[in-house]
Amino acid sequence: MLYTYKKVADYFVEKYRIWHQKWILTQLQNPMEYGEVTLYYPFRISHPELITIGKGTQILAESRIQLYPELVEKQPHLVIGENCFFGYRLCILGGADITIGKMVLMASDITVVSENHGIDPENELPYMKQQLQIAPVSIGDNCWIGDKVIILPGVTIGEGCVIGAGSVVSKSIPEYSIAVGNPARVIKRYSFDQHMWVKV
Ligand SMILES: CC(C)(COP(=O)(O)OP(=O)(O)OC[C@H]1O[C@@H](n2cnc3c(N)ncnc32)[C@H](O)[C@@H]1OP(=O)(O)O)[C@@H](O)C(=O)NCCC(=O)NCCS
Repeated sequence: MLYTYKKVADYFVEKYRIWHQKWILTQLQNPMEYGEVTLYYPFRISHPELITIGKGTQILAESRIQLYPELVEKQPHLVIGENCFFGYRLCILGGADITIGKMVLMASDITVVSENHGIDPENELPYMKQQLQIAPVSIGDNCWIGDKVIILPGVTIGEGCVIGAGSVVSKSIPEYSIAVGNPARVIKRYSFDQHMWVKV
């Protein structure tokens, strides 16, 4: 008997999961057909009307995309290109625009953030209530971002870059670079003359 109840409950949970996923996709800036973009459940998206996701992009479960238009003067937008793949627990926090190119591969547990809290100790407000300091983030086409990377406000990562696992990217990285560490430093650049990655 208990088994039957569980089967019925599972059936409705699955129905809800699919409905919720479809509903979120219809709320995105460019409404998507179910299947054009795949968001694995559970996930959390705020302000889908400010988000564009390209066809063929997949985002694995437990991811969080949160934009904060109510806390800044100019509405932030998130644009993700076509055919990207993002692993588990992607976390995108947007006070300013965040642009991610096409065919970007991100491993798991990656954070991309375009806002800081104000941190003036002489302000009567606590840090958590101070005005957000914002700066846009951009990640070029065909980048590979390793596991557990953090990409901070104001950073531009050029096309074709590789960011090593565990890196904290606090400054912009020129195209076709490999950058690693905290703070991330460029260790190699691709030479199209020599057809190889060259140490810098
Ligand atoms: C960056 C990476 C791609 C290797 O690039 P590479 O050009 O082959 O680098 P090398 O192995 O030649 O290492 C060059 C130097 O960088 C260091 N290094 C490599 N990866 C590093 C990282 N993630 N963090 C810090 N240092 C790193 C190496 O120790 C080496 O240091 P040394 O010159 O002092 O000996 C790889 O180390 C990496 O981080 N891959 C991500 C893996 C991942 O997240 N996979 C998830 C599946 S999508």
